[in-house]
Amino acid sequence: MSLDTISEPILGLSAEYFTDIGVHEQIKHKVFFKTWQFACHESRVRRKGDYFTLSLLDQDIVIVRDEKMQLKAFYNVCQHRGHRLLEGLGNKQRISCPYHSWTYDLAGRLIAAPNSGSVSGFDPSSICIPKIRIENFLGFVFINLDEQAPGMDECYPGVREAILDLCPDIEARQYAFEHHVNEGCNWLTAVENYNECYHCKLAHAEFAKGIIDPASYSIVPFGQGRVLEHTSKASQSSQAWYDMQGSGYASYYLWPTSSIQIYPGGVVNTYHWRPLSVDDVCVYRGWYSDDGAITHTLQKVIDLDRETTFSEDLKLVRNVQRGLCSMGYRPGPLIVDPAGGIDNELSIAVLHEWLRESLDKSPVRLSSNANPVQ
Ligand code: FES
Ligand SMILES: [Fe+2]
Repeated sequence: MSLDTISEPILGLSAEYFTDIGVHEQIKHKVFFKTWQFACHESRVRRKGDYFTLSLLDQDIVIVRDEKMQLKAFYNVCQHRGHRLLEGLGNKQRISCPYHSWTYDLAGRLIAAPNSGSVSGFDPSSICIPKIRIENFLGFVFINLDEQAPGMDECYPGVREAILDLCPDIEARQYAFEHHVNEGCNWLTAVENYNECYHCKLAHAEFAKGIIDPASYSIVPFGQGRVLEHTSKASQSSQAWYDMQGSGYASYYLWPTSSIQIYPGGVVNTYHWRPLSVDDVCVYRGWYSDDGAITHTLQKVIDLDRETTFSEDLKLVRNVQRGLCSMGYRPGPLIVDPAGGIDNELSIAVLHEWLRESLDKSPVRLSSNANPVQ
């Protein structure tokens, strides 16, 4: 999006994008099944046979550390009659289906099926659980259901280097803690809210004192990929949440549902979202440390974040989702300030453009048209 070519206000997306089941179905296929999705931190699947399951809408997926200590991702579905193979997370040297006991090795190959020897021509070597694209990005495991999708460095160019600049030892970090909650809103309602800080001074007084320096906060598109970079100096307040040494705050939002954040002093944390339906999404908040332990300071930050920023956003997005269903809602102009700064919704206009591009719609909607979803 070029700010130079914008000569009139840009309206927010019409409500159908957030509320219509048909649009959501398009987004499922054109966005979620074609983009990189955060699965887990690699330290959660460290040993041979460790597995971690997740669902992306109606697709069940499992991450496995195989015999060769490689990370693999499969559809979590038995090739016999479709039962889910694994639940939650754990460790198994063989994957055995709970329905009729068909058993697979850690590479997804069928190795046993009761009484299959009685079936003339039954060839177990021809049966394998379909694989899914997987990448380890700085210790964070991502999957992509699109076999043809470009790799993460191509989708998000420059992000790896930018994060390593801020936090050179990030790949040595380990999973420490994660909590999650169903937000009761469309995924985009939540992602929009995450990607603008126009509401921060009013809604997030603690965050604005405890972590960031609001006067230096900005959110801008980053590089040539679908990435938004949030940056700020560390809090200058006497009410900072901890003693902040070194780098400032930065966050890299990776379209459509993942974000890697570095809080001042190299505190690594993540947000990721998994859509559940047109009007619900689960947000996951992850924290990482040198050895997986939670220090006193990290626990304080986790607790304060959960009690303030995280909870405050939850109320906002639930409220907005209800408003998006109102017959009285007409999308207003976004506050796109070419000068940047915290009171800015340029990032929202950019998100809308990426969504419209993904759905093959025209790129920008100016103020004069009602422009419902076509
Ligand atoms: S569905 Fe898995 S063994 Fe039958
Ligand atoms: Fe917020």
